[in-house]
Amino acid sequence: MTTNKDMQPIKIFDTTLRDGEQSPGAAMTHEEKLQIAELLDEMGVDVIEAGFPISSQGDFRAVTEISKIVKNASVCGLSRAGFKDIDRAGEALKGAKRPRIHTFISTSPVHMKHKLQMGENAVLEAVGASVTRARNFTDDVEWSAEDATRTVPDFLCRCVEVAIHSGATVINVPDTVGYSTPQEFFDIITMLRERVPNADKVIFSTHCHNDLGLAVANSLAGVLAGARQVECTINGIGERAGNAALEEIVMALKVRGDIMPFSTNINTKLLSRASKMVSNVTGFPVQYNKAIVGKNAFSHESGIHQDGMLKNVETYEIMRPEDVGVHSTSLMLGKLSGRHAFRDKLEAMGYVLANDAFEDAFRRFKDLADKKKHVFDEDIAALVDDEIVRGHDAITLKSIRVQTGTGLKPTAEMTLTVAGEDRSIRTEGDGPVDAIFKAVRELYPHAATLQLFQISAVTEGTDAQATVSVRLEENGRTVTGKASDTDTLAAAGYAYVNALNKLLVKREKQAPEALTVAR
Ligand code: KIV
Ligand code: ZN
Repeated sequence: MTTNKDMQPIKIFDTTLRDGEQSPGAAMTHEEKLQIAELLDEMGVDVIEAGFPISSQGDFRAVTEISKIVKNASVCGLSRAGFKDIDRAGEALKGAKRPRIHTFISTSPVHMKHKLQMGENAVLEAVGASVTRARNFTDDVEWSAEDATRTVPDFLCRCVEVAIHSGATVINVPDTVGYSTPQEFFDIITMLRERVPNADKVIFSTHCHNDLGLAVANSLAGVLAGARQVECTINGIGERAGNAALEEIVMALKVRGDIMPFSTNINTKLLSRASKMVSNVTGFPVQYNKAIVGKNAFSHESGIHQDGMLKNVETYEIMRPEDVGVHSTSLMLGKLSGRHAFRDKLEAMGYVLANDAFEDAFRRFKDLADKKKHVFDEDIAALVDDEIVRGHDAITLKSIRVQTGTGLKPTAEMTLTVAGEDRSIRTEGDGPVDAIFKAVRELYPHAATLQLFQISAVTEGTDAQATVSVRLEENGRTVTGKASDTDTLAAAGYAYVNALNKLLVKREKQAPEALTVAR
């Protein structure tokens, strides 16, 4: 039998705020990033990669502020191999209790030839120089071989040797394009540990992308081969098909401790909440059948399964919903519920709101309870997450009034507050949503085009809140805004405005330069 003391610790490195934010369509405001960082810290994540400081003023600010508020985790800033990148990361991390600089350069033939236009010697030199430079700022330096899994093995070993020799403490092995398989990834980690001098002095880390749907399997294979850090994101968001999903890695290790004797620091009861927050902030819905956090992950539909579950839950459940923060019996609130009950409910759901935010959320809860007989957990989650998201937007929807019906030309009357100034208009449209979106475009002119408009119900019943998602595209940048309200048309207006706010954030990001050299 495996006891806790036989379990080897695995560090969880979360990159939701960096690689996750690089997902096409995902953009987070500054306040949203801080909220997520606080939750990751509370959840027990060991390292939070808070951003890529040189990539934009917004990322620099996020890393700076997150460094100040995080209590337990190490805070990490990404940088290419250039000195300017590294210095900027070092600067942003100044306030962190445990700062880590993560510097990387491509090592595969295809990246070196076409992206870097650098030969092997130049890359080796850049590895040494970048790690040495980063060590001027902190003792905790992570070095990554971008596209490691398509790198010539001998060259990968030489690069890792130089990185360790220059002072790297963590060696990350990214499967940047999600090309590897579990056996191959196991072999790469094993090879590095066996062949590179002083490999036992550093921690090896996995960073697997999900292009072939193998990110979690590859990461676990890396752990079995001796990696002791896993890089991952909430809901598996990230470039293209995403990264390894944090919740899947953590629960796989927890549930299958019998054959994978490893432990993490994660408080798994916060997984569901983190998933909802990230989905809400990015506007990326979580697929119903997503492992661990999907809506159906603990639902049983077939009669045979339901019968088995009634006899003994272990017939069809390998983990308890409560372990990941899903509560099957939810105490409903109604319009007679007071502050005390509301606060208890928020706490049970894992929300801790400061006084002002609590009062705002309570007021919105009361409004909702006036319109809706039963207020479910899902309603409260939508309401509080919405509060967090809307609370700090630069453009806000102050009021909206829509008239529509058979034989009527739909109209929208709207007031937006832009940089503190109220702007009002009345517009006509082909339909009510068209009228609303026209009003927003008139009040805040922009060139972004609408890519997606989607409505889903938060709970069942005709009085359910509607969640509306709006995706906008501008010069190749896409963002998704989201909002919930019992009034579907108001939710459409809020969601459009939320998407515009995200576009403002995204506009600020620079396209990264192609060249990665130490100078
Ligand atoms: O996928 C990747 O290679 C990366 C590196 C920057 C670590 O995200
Ligand atoms: Zn990545």
